[in-house]
Parts: sequence; C-alpha cells; structure tokens
Amino acid sequence: MLFWGSLLKKVNVGLIGLGYQGKTYLRNLLRLENANVLGVADLSKKALNFAKNAGVENVFSDYHDLVKVDELDAVVISLPNFLHFDGVLAAAEAGKAILLDKPLARDVEEGEKILSTVRKNNVRLMMGYNLRFHPALRGIHEKIADGFFGEVQIAEATNVSAGPFASRSDHVGPVSVPSWWYDKKLAGGGALLDLGSHMIDLLSWYFGEVDRLECYLGYMFNMDLEDTATCMLKFKNGPIASVKVGWFSRDFTQTVQICGAAKNVGLRVYPLTPSKLIWSDVKRKLGQSDDGPNYLELKYFVNCVHNDEQPNPSGDDGLRCMQVVSQAYEKGVKV
Ligand SMILES: NC(=O)c1ccc[n+]([C@@H]2O[C@H](COP(=O)([O-])OP(=O)(O)OC[C@H]3O[C@@H](n4cnc5c(N)ncnc54)[C@H](O)[C@@H]3O)[C@@H](O)[C@H]2O)c1
Repeated sequence: MLFWGSLLKKVNVGLIGLGYQGKTYLRNLLRLENANVLGVADLSKKALNFAKNAGVENVFSDYHDLVKVDELDAVVISLPNFLHFDGVLAAAEAGKAILLDKPLARDVEEGEKILSTVRKNNVRLMMGYNLRFHPALRGIHEKIADGFFGEVQIAEATNVSAGPFASRSDHVGPVSVPSWWYDKKLAGGGALLDLGSHMIDLLSWYFGEVDRLECYLGYMFNMDLEDTATCMLKFKNGPIASVKVGWFSRDFTQTVQICGAAKNVGLRVYPLTPSKLIWSDVKRKLGQSDDGPNYLELKYFVNCVHNDEQPNPSGDDGLRCMQVVSQAYEKGVKV
C-alpha cells in the first residue's frame, strides 16, 4: 500500500511569473499527471485571472507568500532576468526545489550568488535550457556519445528570430514588449544572453568545456543591447563551432549542424514543417512521444523532485554557460 501511495503522490508545484514564457509552463504543468499546480504568483492581475481561468485555485501577487505554502514541493521561476536572484533566494530559503528559466542570471557574479544561496539552503536547482529536451537534439547528443558521427570537427548552431519583439500573444496586431527586455541593467544582455546562451548550453552539453572563443556583436536597432551575435567557440576536446543568433528577423530559423569524420547531419529545428518530419522520424527511431521540449522538460523536473534526484541542466551548467557568455561579451567586437 505504502509503495503505491508514494508512486501516486503528486508533486505540488508553484509557478512564479506568468508572462509570455510562464503561460507555456502553466499549460504544460496542467497536463502533467504527477504534478499539481498548487499556486501561481504574478504582479499582474490579468495574469492571475488567466491562471484562475485555467483552474489554478491559489493565486498570489507576491511570490514570497507563495513559497511559504507548506505543501509546496517545488517552484518554476519564469520572472524577468533581474528577479532571478530574488526569486531563487525566496524559494531556496523556503526549502523548495527550483526550475529556473534561462539565463541563470544577468552576469557571472549574480550567478555565483544564486549558486551559493542554493548550496547554503541545500535545495535542488535545474536550469530551463529546454533545447536539451527537444527529441531530435537529444537524439544528436546520444549519437555523438555512441560515435555515430566519428570525430566531430565542425559544428554550427543558429537561432535567429525577432526575439522578444516576436508576437507575444495570439491577438492580431502589435503587442508591447515588457520594457525590462531592452534595459541592459534589468536584462543583463541582448540576443547573445537570450538566444546565444541556449545554443552555447546545447553545444557545451554535446562537446564539453569551451577553451577559447571569438565574438562579433551587432547593433542594428541602436540599443545598448546587441541584437546580433556571431561566436566561434573552440571546445577543449572537440570541434570548432559557430553560434549565430539574432533578434532582427521576422522569420524564425533554428538549425544545428554536426560534421564528423563518419557522418554530417544538418537539422532544421524551425521552421516547423521540415522539423516535424525529422522530429517524427527521430521519434519513431527512439520510441518517443509527441510532446514538445517544454512539456518533456517539466515532466523530467517533476520526476526528479518526486524521486529526490538532482536534475540537469544543473545550476553549475547554468554558471558555466554564463561564463562563456561573459567571455564573449568581454572579447566581443562591435560591428
Ligand atoms: N526557455 C525559453 O525558451 C524562454 C523563452 C522566453 C523567455 N524565457 C525566459 O523567461 C523569463 C521571462 O521571460 P518572459 O518573456 O516570459 O517575460 P515577461 O515579461 O513576459 O513575463 C514576466 C512575468 O513576471 C511578472 N513579474 C514581474 N515582476 C514581478 C514580481 N516582482 N513579482 C511577481 N511577478 C512579477 C510579470 O508581470 C510577467 O507576467 C526570462 O528569464 C526569459 O529569459 C525563456
């Protein structure tokens, strides 16, 4: 009886920040069989109404109140970058496991503060680098590990879109972008930190430690935040990889290419149509489900909380990624 009881126990999850990305988390959390969305916190009444309409009973305007709820096991934090530290601090001091959306912080120093808070309070921290949960990109990780590509010499990762300027709602017509996104002090960085960190985390998962790098930063919109970044990364035990990211295009392209001595593979993750073809092909081979990366990421996190296991990507992975991004900013040539 006890055994079944522990298997069926739902993990009580709180969601902090119900903006653009938070809504994706909420939709997917509500689909998880072994999670119960115990509460949501957001400053915006509109966001809290959205949560209530989706069936969440407990809503809070102050996340410090949500984390105090005894029954809560874990939180998903999807706050603006400048609140990542305070959100983690509140959740860690309340003893909750944390899934923190990327990036870890605005800079390395703030990232280190987050990790020491997590260690001091002995809680689990997972970073929301959800590309690691994309079935096809996960498939590449497995294929690199089992030698399918032979020795990889060259890799490429591109993520070009309108970034935060992309349509932020289902409504037709322009919707304003929350102002923190283009305030360097609040966001910490532009396209490199936002999209580049996704691609750098993915490549670091594939190939390990970055040894050295070069970077070019573009400023098409004349903000003090870069809207374009192109980096060349040399991995210690691996290939040279290019990372190309931008916030400047109404089109959306996300690609990964791996060139090895035995095989070369180019994967178009977006646009969706060819991705779906490749994705379903990989799914057939690996026997995976139809669910998207965000759902799979949350499912994994909730299972880790249930089993009291450390989830990956970890906070340390988040810090390593911040260190590479910070080096790229230091060395970045403005063009
Ligand atoms: N993993 C991904 O692919 C992905 C995609 C987009 C965004 N993100 C990350 O998600 C985070 C949020 O981005 P977004 O675009 O959803 O931002 P957003 O501005 O749309 O949403 C942030 C939400 O936080 C709320 N908020 C702000 N201050 C608050 C406070 N003091 N207390 C409670 N709520 C508060 C806002 O009302 C808003 O609803 C960022 O860190 C971003 O980098 C990740």
